[in-house]
Amino acid sequence: MSRRPFVAGNWKMHKTAPEAAAFVRAFAGKVPEGVDVAVCPPFTALAAAVEAARRTEVAVYAQNMHQAEKGAFTGEVSAGMLLDAGVDGVLIGHSERRQFFGETDEGVNEKALRAHAAGLRVILAVGETAEEREAALTEIVLERQVRAGLDGLSAKQVAATTIAYEPVWAIGTGLTATPEIAQAAHAFIRGLVEGAHGVAERVRIQYGGSVKPDNAAELFARPDIDGGLIGGASLDPADLAAIASAAAG
Ligand code: 13P
Repeated sequence: MSRRPFVAGNWKMHKTAPEAAAFVRAFAGKVPEGVDVAVCPPFTALAAAVEAARRTEVAVYAQNMHQAEKGAFTGEVSAGMLLDAGVDGVLIGHSERRQFFGETDEGVNEKALRAHAAGLRVILAVGETAEEREAALTEIVLERQVRAGLDGLSAKQVAATTIAYEPVWAIGTGLTATPEIAQAAHAFIRGLVEGAHGVAERVRIQYGGSVKPDNAAELFARPDIDGGLIGGASLDPADLAAIASAAAG
């Protein structure tokens, strides 16, 4: 089965509402055929991005959400609030959330369950640190994160989940994983999804970590790499469009 490639830009803590709207207007005109695209603005810019993305091919995802429906969780945002803001989906389990904000596999799983139940699309991010790779723990870490993250989801929900493989050592460092390293991790993750849920051929697996216009094509040419989750290079509409074009083939 051929999977439609998917390229998403994770803006992290960048861009105001007017900057987000201007980006989406500039980017929408450059989106090639044959690839799904999304941007993940910060919460304060979601509504402006959604408005600018109306009647375009650009989907809008949040970068995080809380797993509870509502309640006394100061500073947090629920799935229902994201839907109310008009967003299409949510990124869950990014390594910066795991590293700097104490997110656990269990919490990530609760978020995935809640997001799917609410009807949001989900990108689930996983990936090992440099220390874990050096200690030959990559597959153990990926297995734990993927199994826990997808636990309790229906096969249909798993098939509709995009998994983003983002080795932590490649994020923001310029140390892109080689296509061989990335492909091996993607094939391993696809095998895990097959074993646990039986929908491996349908699940899209993005690579993330220092993807740029000049290295995207060789990564996306690998059979199990279905697009990318882009940080720094997603802040410029021409760069993100070039990366989307590389995914479109
Ligand atoms: P960079 O592309 O800046 O390395 O970031 C990757 C990332 O973390 C996307 O979520």
